[in-house]
Amino acid sequence: MQDYQEFLEEILIPEDELQERIRELGQEISRDYEGKDLLLVCILKGGVMFLTDLMRSIDVPHNIDFMAISSYGAGARQSTGSVQIKLDLATPIEGRNVLIVEDIIDSGHTLTSVINFLNTRRPKSLKICALLDKAERREVEVPIHYRGFTIPNKFVFGYGLDLDEYYRDLPFIGVFRTKPMQGIE
Ligand code: PRP
Repeated sequence: MQDYQEFLEEILIPEDELQERIRELGQEISRDYEGKDLLLVCILKGGVMFLTDLMRSIDVPHNIDFMAISSYGAGARQSTGSVQIKLDLATPIEGRNVLIVEDIIDSGHTLTSVINFLNTRRPKSLKICALLDKAERREVEVPIHYRGFTIPNKFVFGYGLDLDEYYRDLPFIGVFRTKPMQGIE
């Protein structure tokens, strides 16, 4: 496997900034949900790193569950606009306070579909926590209740986000290098 540095233009959000912001989000969520029932719903696969750090920063009791949605084909760089539910929740959500945990909101189509789908199950509340907001790319309005960072319209990877399914493990958010490195054909 090639080294990720070949694909890295620059580090957009270093590890310490990510972790600091996630701690702040966790504190905000803990304040808002104090004394309330809370279910974190992680959207796989990209949201998994964010979920595991975020839940360690939340100091109110909570449950977790997972959904997998497909909106991008392997290797694709743009949303197709059509989404498919590949893995549904194991937990009933009627009457519960649901907080969706997502790595990135781009066009907004994925979350709009997820929100519409989950609302049919009558949760008590349904809110969104997104680490990255690529706001320039929005095609449909999505209410973001907890936002980590607003980022420019660049292809990013690391910290849950993949480059053709690799590098989700990197502890920072990097920008994909679109031009070859100097000196390399
Ligand atoms: C990414 C991301 C969101 C979606 C956002 O998932 O995790 O779910 O795209 O795009 P949108 O706002 O344009 O709909 P992806 O389909 O890449 O799957 P993955 O998380 O499994 O990598």
